[in-house]
Amino acid sequence: MPELNVITRDGTRQTIEASTDVSVMEAIRDAGFDELLALCGGCCSCATCHVYVDPAFTAHLPPVTDDEHDLLDGSPHRNGDSRLSCQLLMTNALSGLTVTIAPED
Ligand code: FES
Repeated sequence: MPELNVITRDGTRQTIEASTDVSVMEAIRDAGFDELLALCGGCCSCATCHVYVDPAFTAHLPPVTDDEHDLLDGSPHRNGDSRLSCQLLMTNALSGLTVTIAPED
């Protein structure tokens, strides 16, 4: 199973295992991180699954869609590493990815 490193808002780092049939958001949520609200359940309509991704993995990520871009634009915490974790499917190529949960908007 691919490994995913999660850094929470207080800076705590934890490594979890994620199956390849779930999104990064689902992997984080299912591991019990309650600060990633994911209110819309992964429909790309809330932006409460905002994370910062390790730029070393950018090439393995799907491109940002127009909807994701618009939602991220509504966050004052957006930076160049921002993604909506519900839009990122876990793959073996992403094993070792580090994501940091973005501050709450
Ligand atoms: S869970 Fe709502 S946009 Fe990702």
